[in-house]
Parts: sequence; structure tokens; C-alpha cells
Amino acid sequence: MNEKAARYVRKGMNRVGGWLFPLSAAIIADLGRIQEERGLAGNVGEIGVFQGKLWLLLNNLARPGEISFAIDVFDNGAMTGHYAGPPYPALFDRNLKRYANKDAGIVLHKGSSLVLSPAAMREKFPDVRLFSIDGDHSAAAVLNDLTLADSVLNDGGIVIMDDIFNETSPDVMVGFCRYMMQNPARLAPVAISPNKVFLSRPAEADFYAKALAQAMARNLRYWTPFLDRSVPFFAERRRTATFGRALVETKLEQPARRLLALLRGH
Ligand SMILES: C[S@@+](CC[C@H](N)C(=O)[O-])C[C@H]1O[C@@H](n2cnc3c(N)ncnc32)[C@H](O)[C@@H]1O
Repeated sequence: MNEKAARYVRKGMNRVGGWLFPLSAAIIADLGRIQEERGLAGNVGEIGVFQGKLWLLLNNLARPGEISFAIDVFDNGAMTGHYAGPPYPALFDRNLKRYANKDAGIVLHKGSSLVLSPAAMREKFPDVRLFSIDGDHSAAAVLNDLTLADSVLNDGGIVIMDDIFNETSPDVMVGFCRYMMQNPARLAPVAISPNKVFLSRPAEADFYAKALAQAMARNLRYWTPFLDRSVPFFAERRRTATFGRALVETKLEQPARRLLALLRGH
């Protein structure tokens, strides 16, 4: 992991509100490293940034000359039923000042992704290597956001898709299936981790799956069939079933220290 991303994980990520399991953060960081080792450049960004927890990781993985873009309505109204804290756009601004990598370009786009077109994306945010989708969880929005990501993803790029298997948001799976049925050969699954599914161009999927399986071997639970492929499923090494609710809470609260240990292979 590069120095800036490591510093954010160590000193910032745990202080930023939002939703990102440490193991999934480790996998995102590892994908950034793998892309860097391949000499792959490109922009990074997210639809649905909230307070910036995952976006700041992408931003800190960006290298000079690359843009990190954040697309969000930036309005507490979009979080009704999920969040009742102070206005999150102010918290995003605070986190950005504290933890952002200023060497990368930063472009904030306030507005719904539903009114963005592929042509507008290509103009504003072209050539993307890491694209996280975590905005509106309706089927229509997921279909829309995958279409936008597809329109700008470069050949070695990765899409990080939130909540496909989360029983609290079943329409994410509906939107994902609709996208896959309408665009069967554009994106393929690479890996599954807590709350995230990683996708790439079909020609790259096996490469990334094997590279991740090697790098994250200690967290590789098994290979599972998914959309006519075999993909690695990564999970925390401890068994939640044995410890029940207490461990679930521990997993949610795990400090960045645990993520660093994972990255070092302990
Ligand atoms: C689950 S939160 C994202 C969590 C974030 N990725 C993190 O790292 O913690 C969902 C975000 O999507 C935003 N959102 C909802 N509908 C949207 C839309 N149509 N376009 C863009 N952003 C949207 C919400 O305002 C919120 O910030």
C-alpha cells in the first residue's frame, strides 16, 4: 500500500463515519497496489460518498496527475431512515480537510447521479481505474450507476459495488441483474468481500481474482461460482457464529490497526 493510503488507514479511516469493513478496505488498497505494479494509471472516484470513508481511501490511492471525484447529492434528505446525525456534507468537508491527499486532483460533483449521462461522465471523469458505486440503492439507480461506471472504466479498471448481497437492500441485486442482462459482456465479477463485489472487464477478471487470492490468502474462504466464473470469497478469519452479536459489533468497530495487521498478513 502506498504511504498516503497507509497513513489514512492508520490515522483517519476509523475517525470517519460511514460504511466500510476493514477487510474490504484492505482489498481496495491491494487493488490499488496491483494496478500500480502493472503501471496502470487512471482516475478514481465514487458515487455516494457520505462522510468520505471509502472515498478518502480512493483519493489517497490516487497519484499526482490523477483525479479523485466525488459524486453525491450532499443532502441529509437522501439518508432518511439510515442516518440521523448532523448534516453530513459538513462532516465530509471536515474529513476532506483533515485526510485528503492534496497531490491528487479533487473534483466534487453535487447532484444526483440519476441526471448524469455517460457522455457527461466521459467529459468530466474519463479513464477511471477505481470506481466505487454506493449511492441510491434503488434498482433504477444501480442500473444507472453501473452504466455510468461502465462508460468511463479503463481496460484495467475495477468497479467496487456496494451491498449486492445485503438483505436490507434487495433492489441492489435487482439493478445489478438488470445491468448484467442488458450488458452481458461488459463487466465480470472478480471477487466478493464483506458488503462489496468487485468487477472488471471480463478479460482482466481472472488476473485480478488470482492476484487477490494470492495477496489476501489468509482471508480467502473459498472460490464460489458467480455468473459462470469462479471467484474468490474473502471473509474475516474469525467465525461470527461462534461468538454471536458481540463479535459482529467487534467487526464493525474494528480499529485501523486490525486492517494494517491484515495487510501485513497477520
Ligand atoms: C450508504 S451512503 C455511502 C457510504 C460511503 N460510501 C462510505 O464510505 O461510508 C449513500 C450515499 O449516497 C448518496 N446518494 C443517495 N442518492 C444519490 C444519488 N441519486 N446520487 C448521488 N448520491 C446519492 C447519499 O447522500 C449518501 O451520501
